[in-house]
Amino acid sequence: MNNRPTILVTRNIPQNGIDILKQKYTLIINKNNRPLHRNELKKNVKDVDGILCVLQDKIDKEIIDIAGPKLKVISTFSTGFEHIDINVAKERGIKIGYTGDILTETTADLAFGLILCIGRRITEADNFIRRSKWKGGWGPELMLGTDIYKKTIGLIGFGKIGQAIANRAKGFNMKILYHIRNKENLKLQNHLNECAKYCELDEIFTNSDYIVICCTFNKDSFHLINKENLNKMKNTSFLINIARGKIIKEKDLIHALKKKYIKGAALDVFEEEPISKNSPLIKMKNVVLVPHIGSASYETRNKMAYLAAMNIKYVLDGEDKKALLI
Ligand code: DGY
Repeated sequence: MNNRPTILVTRNIPQNGIDILKQKYTLIINKNNRPLHRNELKKNVKDVDGILCVLQDKIDKEIIDIAGPKLKVISTFSTGFEHIDINVAKERGIKIGYTGDILTETTADLAFGLILCIGRRITEADNFIRRSKWKGGWGPELMLGTDIYKKTIGLIGFGKIGQAIANRAKGFNMKILYHIRNKENLKLQNHLNECAKYCELDEIFTNSDYIVICCTFNKDSFHLINKENLNKMKNTSFLINIARGKIIKEKDLIHALKKKYIKGAALDVFEEEPISKNSPLIKMKNVVLVPHIGSASYETRNKMAYLAAMNIKYVLDGEDKKALLI
C-alpha cells in the first residue's frame, strides 16, 4: 500500500518545485496549459493531504469539504491569496502557505517597463515597423511620446512593491507621490522619507503624470478607479495597473481612453482573465496590454516554486515555523 501523502498540484510549476515534492509525495499534477475546470478540481482534490494551487483556483468551502479531513496544507504559488477561503481553512487547522515578498523587485521591474512602454510608445513603435508602416526613415515627429524623466509618479499603494517602484522612479529623477489607505501600517524605507510625499487620493489623481496601482485587492479597493477619479486625471497622464484587474472599473477606463480624458493605460491585470478578445482595449493604440506577467521572470518563478513546495513540506513534516504562512 502506498502511504505517501498525496499532493494535488493544480498547475504545472517550474521543475525545481516538482522535484522537491516528488521525493516524498504522490503527486497529482495538472499538466494542461490551463487552470483546472471546477469539476476537475473537485474530482482531483478528494482525500489529498496538500494542495499546491494558483490564483485561478477558487479554494472555497466546497473544495475544502471535498478534500476532506486529511487536508493539512494549502500552498499557493502566488503572493495574493484572495482565492482561498482563509476563515474556513483556519477553522479546520489547515495551514495556508504563500510566496510573500519574493516577487517584489520583479513586479516593480515590470511596472517600470510598462511606464516606459506606454510613455515612449515602445510597443506601438515595434508594431509600426512589423506592419511595414515605417516609410520615411528617421522623422522629426515620428512616434513622439512623453518623457518619464522628471515627471510625477503617483503610487496608489505603498507597500513593498510600491516602494520598489519608487526606488526605480528615483533613478529617473521623478517626483514621487504616494497614497496608502492605512498610513499607520506604513513601513517606509528610510531614504524614501526624503523623496516620496504622502498625498490624499485626489491629489494623486490631479497631479500625477503616471499613476501606478500597486495596492492590495480587497472590498475597499474594488473599483477604486472609476469614472469619478479618472475624470480628475490630467488628459496627458497615464494609468498603469500591476495589482489586480478588479481595482479598475474597466468600462469606465475604456470610456476615459476613448474620450481622451487620459492619454493612455498599461495593464498587466484585467477584470476578466484572459481578457475577452472582444474587449475594446485590444483595438486601442493608446494602451499596452500584457498577460499578468508581473512576477514572470525565470529567477522569481523558480524561487516561487521552491517556496510553494517547501511550504507544503514544512507543514507536513511538522515544521510549520519554517514555512511562510498567512
Ligand atoms: C501574485 O503572486 O499574487 C501574482 O499576481 C502572480 O504572481
